[in-house]
Amino acid sequence: PEAAPNVMIIFGAGGDLTRRKLIPALFHLAAAGLLPESFAMLGLDRLELDDERFRDRIAEQVKETVGAVFDHVVWQRLVSSIHYMQIDMREGADYEHLCERLGRIDAERGTDGNYLFYLAVPPSLFGEITDRLGEVGLLHETEDDWRRVIIEKPFGHDLESAIALNREMHRNMDEEQIYRIDHYLGKETVQNIMVFRFANSFFEPLWNRNHIDHVQITVAESVGVEHRGAYYEEAGALRDMLPNHLLVLLGFLAMDPPSSFESEAVRIEINKVLDAVKPLTPEEVLTHAVRGQYGAGTMPGGEKVPAYRASPDVNPRSYTETYAALKLSMDSWRWAGVPFYLRTGKRLTAHYTEVAIQFKRAPTIMFKDTAVEELTPDMLVLRIQPNEGIQMSFGAKVPGPTMQVGTVNMDFCYEDYFGNKPATGYETLIYDCMNGDATLFKHADTVEKGWEIVQSVMDVWAAIPPRDFPNYAAGSWGPAAAGELTKRDGRLWRRIAVPKARAGS
Ligand code: BG6
Repeated sequence: PEAAPNVMIIFGAGGDLTRRKLIPALFHLAAAGLLPESFAMLGLDRLELDDERFRDRIAEQVKETVGAVFDHVVWQRLVSSIHYMQIDMREGADYEHLCERLGRIDAERGTDGNYLFYLAVPPSLFGEITDRLGEVGLLHETEDDWRRVIIEKPFGHDLESAIALNREMHRNMDEEQIYRIDHYLGKETVQNIMVFRFANSFFEPLWNRNHIDHVQITVAESVGVEHRGAYYEEAGALRDMLPNHLLVLLGFLAMDPPSSFESEAVRIEINKVLDAVKPLTPEEVLTHAVRGQYGAGTMPGGEKVPAYRASPDVNPRSYTETYAALKLSMDSWRWAGVPFYLRTGKRLTAHYTEVAIQFKRAPTIMFKDTAVEELTPDMLVLRIQPNEGIQMSFGAKVPGPTMQVGTVNMDFCYEDYFGNKPATGYETLIYDCMNGDATLFKHADTVEKGWEIVQSVMDVWAAIPPRDFPNYAAGSWGPAAAGELTKRDGRLWRRIAVPKARAGS
């Protein structure tokens, strides 16, 4: 069904996010008939443009981003509802003009005074913009209209600053009006973790310490820091990925079944998982956390790439980590004693995100030609991206007169069943926000709990500079110390066989 009538107001409409993700997402929503009849988008930025010039600017980019599914009729209808206004985001008087402009749009379009503010700007502006919006009454909801604000990470750079940011946002809004995006929650395959677990009866009885040996979560990227050196120098792999994206995967994977798919019910269960994760003590950080930085190297395709320290806007003696791996454990009946190994990094061999669940071995084996230690443990792999799918590996008899067990795979690929639906990942999130459904957004306390989990690692790493950076070559699977993290426990990181792109995909 169509979303509720509204105006979506984008601060930072001249930026990358608007062009690459937000407008294409609106296009996909329009094409699917999910945008309301009464809808308008108002772009705000410093640039001096009028509606026509703004529309021209975004049109080309949209065509390029949405590719073959571009449809002139859909675009014409959408673009006629797109407006632009020049604004100085720090200037109070400009917000008076914004009020007037929105009043006119409401009158023309019948958007009912429902406003969705999307702050596609650096977080340092979040507080100031919401203060100004608050001053002119644009964040005030009545029984007849709603006001919502979407913001995107980074939500602070540590626990203290995250709390301060939340406080700043709460100055002008209730928590229910704030929609914090973690774009991993917009990924179909991430949402599917819940469907896989709770719409089926196969696995849930096995989903605990009695049957699962350990879990590995890998978010590997083959790209470097590209043009984001200035941001990344301050962030590093841990801050950039762990407390947000990797913990989203961990939360969905480890949660108990919520009583419903309502946002509050899901939040309670996710927060229980995060509460159960044991923060590492400073001593544990030395053994349970590994950091790395890439040096120059050769990517699998043969491309020679420079070291992180040679990237634009990066200090040539930088101590910023581009790789982080952690071993976490949980204090809960379901997960006590089950290690969760998490790793993420840039310039690794491949772009690959997956969750691998390794089951315990069979307790004994009666087939005399195979020793129990020779059996590969059963494994379930949720492939988040690319080649989205689910794979089960288990033992089967190797044909022949001897009783030998070999490992076989059962593989489900999304594409085979559901085709390849083009999407930016923002469609669901924008649509949900228009409908007031916060299930796939982050609550203030979930953000803070994420930081709590990594705070001790950040503290120890800040206090003890690394001595061995760069310690992995671009194009490799990361620093040797990460291998030790699992080997010490008698386990191995899963060697990821990167699938070849399929013909036509
Ligand atoms: C972003 C990080 O949040 O997520 C980037 O800031 C990272 O550094 C990106 O590249 C990864 O997202 P995806 O969707 O490509 O896995």
